[in-house]
Amino acid sequence: MGSKKINNKCGLRQDYDFFSHGLEGVAAFETSISYIDGKDGILIYRGIPIEELAEKSTYEETAYFLIYGSLPTKIELKKFSSDLENHISLNTEDIKWLKDFPVAAHPMDVLNTCVSLMSLPEGGDYEIGRGDLKAGIRIMGKMPSYIAAFDRIRKGKEPIPPDSKLSYAANFLWMLNGEKPKEKEARILDLCLILHAEHGVCASTFGTLVTSSTFSDVYSSIVTAIGTLKGYLHGGANEQVIRMLEGIGSPEKVEKYVSHAMKEKEKIMGFGHRVYKALDPRARILKKYARDLTGKRDEILFKTALKLEEVMEKKFGPKGIYPNVDFYSGFVYKALGIPTDLFTSIFAIARSAGWIAHILEYRESNRIFRPRGIYNGPVNVKYIPIKER
Ligand code: ACO
Repeated sequence: MGSKKINNKCGLRQDYDFFSHGLEGVAAFETSISYIDGKDGILIYRGIPIEELAEKSTYEETAYFLIYGSLPTKIELKKFSSDLENHISLNTEDIKWLKDFPVAAHPMDVLNTCVSLMSLPEGGDYEIGRGDLKAGIRIMGKMPSYIAAFDRIRKGKEPIPPDSKLSYAANFLWMLNGEKPKEKEARILDLCLILHAEHGVCASTFGTLVTSSTFSDVYSSIVTAIGTLKGYLHGGANEQVIRMLEGIGSPEKVEKYVSHAMKEKEKIMGFGHRVYKALDPRARILKKYARDLTGKRDEILFKTALKLEEVMEKKFGPKGIYPNVDFYSGFVYKALGIPTDLFTSIFAIARSAGWIAHILEYRESNRIFRPRGIYNGPVNVKYIPIKER
């Protein structure tokens, strides 16, 4: 654990008993949304193991479950799906924004900007608290459409309107590729969305709660979350894993790569987790699908990943460093024909359910987040007027 006794170097009053660098091992609120047992690699959403949801549920049902707290009836699910669907279409203003963005923009920046822009037309109609759920569903509905349309526009193609007969996952693939996805493809993306829908107080959920705890609105809170997810120590790792494996090139080069990284104290992408000290259960599920789906074209890449896992287990297993969710998810997205720089946006689309569930839950017992830093700077410094400096 990262907690230590305070070393009060400057001698000023600092009334804290301990500090925890990066808040490791600290619980800051109660939640009934998900639970992680990092020692045994267990993840449950509202009491149901992730493996069971991955096998039996759909993303829409899981999102409802996370947000509303109970599994929906048929009618409730139909209503929730149609609420999402009501917001999925982009209007001419949305398309105009997207066409104005630089084609080289990163999709996570596009997503962030679009969610921020979404808040503008609501203007004074948005009421913090009462308006949160409506805004959350609006954001969830629109996120896949923004990403799919941006990808098409940057390739010189026209955006494709959603098809109301398709599921949330299938609609994303349809709007991205302009071809109706096969049932198996839509189901696999749906499964990825379920696996990424929620994960306790990860950095992006914490970020979203820090913003909403000030009684800021849901749009601003989700913008914080997207920005936080983008970093490569968090959701951005899924893109970096594929780039790293492409850089390594072949299984024979793995040992050398890991030795060099260890010498230089560089992180290996897709490994390690603040909470899991065993294999991430989501990585276990995704590895199976990645293996089944990876075709001839990416065979060497997949073999390189397997070799990396083997070498890492020998060198880092004793430290509790194992593959995390990001290690194999990229293979699944790649097999679905999704460009590498969209991977983290898909994570964001999925996690929007967890973010919204947490915002709504925390509103009920809101207290602003306000940790302290330990001052270790100078004291009694003389102010020197600017002309004398
Ligand atoms: N490669 C090599 N060494 C690692 C790795 C890694 N991926 N992860 C942790 N370590 C080592 C650190 O070097 C450190 O070693 P030391 O004690 O000898 O200094 C020790 O393990 C602890 O590492 P921290 O970075 O302090 O662990 P922390 O809990 O702060 O970080 C994190 C967790 C950020 C996930 C880290 O494991 C990491 O950077 N992984 C790579 C990036 C990644 O895959 N991120 C996705 C995480 S999952 C998600 O957010 C969806």
